[in-house]
Amino acid sequence: QNERDSQFIVSDFAKNHYHRLLLNSEEGMSIGYGYLKERGLNLATIQQFELGYSLDSWDDLMKTAEKAGYDKKYLEKSGLIVTKTDDQGHDTGRRYDRFRGRVMFPIHNISGRVVGFGARTLKRDDKMAKYLNSPESDIYHKSDVLYGLFQARQAIRTEEVCYLVEGYLDVLSLYQGGIKNVVASSGTSLTEGQIRLIKRYSDNVTVLYDGDAAGIKASLRGTDLLLESGLNVRVVLFPDGDDPDSYIRKVGDQRFAQYIEKSSQDFITFKTTLVAREASNDPVKKAEAIRDVLNSIAKVPDAIKRQVFLQQTSATFGIDEQVLITEYNKLVKAPAA
Ligand code: CTP
Ligand code: MN
Ligand code: MN
Ligand code: MN
Ligand code: MN
Repeated sequence: QNERDSQFIVSDFAKNHYHRLLLNSEEGMSIGYGYLKERGLNLATIQQFELGYSLDSWDDLMKTAEKAGYDKKYLEKSGLIVTKTDDQGHDTGRRYDRFRGRVMFPIHNISGRVVGFGARTLKRDDKMAKYLNSPESDIYHKSDVLYGLFQARQAIRTEEVCYLVEGYLDVLSLYQGGIKNVVASSGTSLTEGQIRLIKRYSDNVTVLYDGDAAGIKASLRGTDLLLESGLNVRVVLFPDGDDPDSYIRKVGDQRFAQYIEKSSQDFITFKTTLVAREASNDPVKKAEAIRDVLNSIAKVPDAIKRQVFLQQTSATFGIDEQVLITEYNKLVKAPAA
């Protein structure tokens, strides 16, 4: 039995412990389960995703694990226990649970084993980070996991599209609302490892990021990698202030599905209209915006798709297509800035 196996085993133990606390302890039921219920999640969803609750205590997990015979060393290696160090970075011998008084979202790999946790605070206090996540470990590489993929993978295959959202709650609400082909990047910009994972199941991705400035920026940033990978990328924007979770709660499952259907647009089309609108009639800005879009088009591996996008861009900006193609050819020959 090697190191990684031991870490899988303690992670599984912690997941079961947190899950039990959520459904069977007084504190977990009233605070943790109460919170999830308030956010509209039902028992089936909670069980499907094995959600949990960590007691508001410094050593509940540590003590329970020790009593059950688990080696503390592996709890530390998985980041479930934190070692307190002094100013020089020396071990002080003090240990405590990393996750306290939080709703726990186990993160599964594609075989369904727990590799880490996301944890949401229930306090409204601003000083506290809203989410705390497991640190990188031998079994948890943040850039190689997508939250929800284990539960979503079959549906991604059959629906032939993967919905990509930002957060844990977005995955859970959509899944519960019947949209099971949904995964989250967990707030970071998308990585190549995550894209490779998606490509194992589908060639089509629809990005459903939060309807705030940060979400729009994030969708613009992450998508160049998506385009390079040859995936067909579409985008859905939500009203400012809404994310997929708040929006599906507001309008209901059916209207949400209709909304996605009707307002999803091809990513390059979206980007073209967005930058064209921002540049309006300023010639310098407009030239910059066009180059920006051409750069995205250059990432698309399929030549026919590139041709279609070039035609579309020339129409949107009101630029002669031949002029645009000449510029495009110059740009792909020159090393990118
Ligand atoms: N996130 C994180 N650490 C933070 C903030 C966010 O890891 N301090 C990640 C989480 O995976 C989170 C996602 O980024 O789910 C999106 O962040 P945000 O939109 O702020 O949170 P929501 O998922 O919408 O959570 P909630 O609805 O509970 O506020
Ligand atoms: Mn490794
Ligand atoms: Mn956000
Ligand atoms: Mn959000
Ligand atoms: Mn949210």
